[in-house]
Amino acid sequence: MTNLKPSSKALVPFVSVDHMMKLVHHVGIEEMLRGIADYIETDFKRWELFDKTPRVASHSESGVIELMPTSDGDVYGFKYVNGHPSNTADGLQTVTAFGLLADVASGYPVLLSEMTLLTALRTAATSALVARVLAPENAKVMAMIGNGTQSEFQSLAMKTIVGIEEVRLYDIDPAATAKCAENLAGMGLRVTSCKTAEESMEGAQIITTCTADKQYATILTDNMVGAGVHINAIGGDCPGKTELAPAILNRAEIFVEYPEQTRIEGEIQQMESDHPVTEFWEVLTGAAKGRTDDKQITLFDSVGFAIEDFSALRYVRDQIADTGLFHPLDLLADPDDPRDLFGMLQRAKP
Ligand SMILES: NC(=O)c1ccc[n+]([C@@H]2O[C@H](COP(=O)([O-])OP(=O)(O)OC[C@H]3O[C@@H](n4cnc5c(N)ncnc54)[C@H](O)[C@@H]3O)[C@@H](O)[C@H]2O)c1
Repeated sequence: MTNLKPSSKALVPFVSVDHMMKLVHHVGIEEMLRGIADYIETDFKRWELFDKTPRVASHSESGVIELMPTSDGDVYGFKYVNGHPSNTADGLQTVTAFGLLADVASGYPVLLSEMTLLTALRTAATSALVARVLAPENAKVMAMIGNGTQSEFQSLAMKTIVGIEEVRLYDIDPAATAKCAENLAGMGLRVTSCKTAEESMEGAQIITTCTADKQYATILTDNMVGAGVHINAIGGDCPGKTELAPAILNRAEIFVEYPEQTRIEGEIQQMESDHPVTEFWEVLTGAAKGRTDDKQITLFDSVGFAIEDFSALRYVRDQIADTGLFHPLDLLADPDDPRDLFGMLQRAKP
């Protein structure tokens, strides 16, 4: 009988949603957030050797589908991700994703993974890494505006990496706030549910905006933001989709991932194309200054960059080697004679 089983060269480790959930609990969510943040920090410190391009976006009336590629010369990675703010009304998520790592030398994939959970983890890890460097010293209180999918991850990362003790929740939908408060109960944070965005910002040194709306929204107006805070602006990540009043941007020291992408997608799309920004990786390497005084407003204009996904996938790849939390997926054709793909196909003829 003909052997139709795939060879080992055909098999690519695949991390399913089920395996990712098990991995998070096996490692521990806070440990995993710390681990991913460490990998992101390592990769940001070698920023210059990566291939970089603004992500490739396909827009429609309801949302966007994006491809996010990068490579460090040895390993290539990409993420497929969508953003559809009205999806939740249909019982679908705003953001779903999967991604891949490949060996640059052969072009063969070495990992395929779900990335919906991983995106929430890596976005939170990035936010917290940036806040650890830029937020006022001893920041203990965070306002969390937008209490959807990302919110618990953002809150926990800020606790474990920055040392936040209280999170003050606000969402236009009180059901989202109730869900977030319930999920965070017993996780070592003081959780306060608020009725307005202003109330959520009382006593907060860090303000995270993480709302989803495919339009220019003004979640924070100029008069709401006092001196000496760090704003972690997550939700403005698409052309025509922002969260902050331009006057805040004029008062803030703005830090970005990759300016070429952020000028298209971030809060700074509202500003002139040469509005001054600092690339965060340069703060990590010491090439640029971070916060320089207590009164400054620092703003992380986050849009999510391919290197963060690459780092998160690298982290997962290293973890699954020990845990076995993956399926060998028959993804690559592997004929006995590399030039006889047709012959291999004929073996499956009924
Ligand atoms: N920067 C990044 O790297 C990154 C990564 C992931 C997601 N995002 C973006 O973050 C945003 C949130 O993502 P999510 O997965 O949590 O979405 P989600 O749809 O699960 O949650 C969004 C929440 O925002 C609330 N909201 C909408 N308008 C509001 C307003 N005016 N005031 C207060 N709350 C409001 C909604 O009620 C909802 O609960 C999206 O815009 C998404 O595209 C960015």
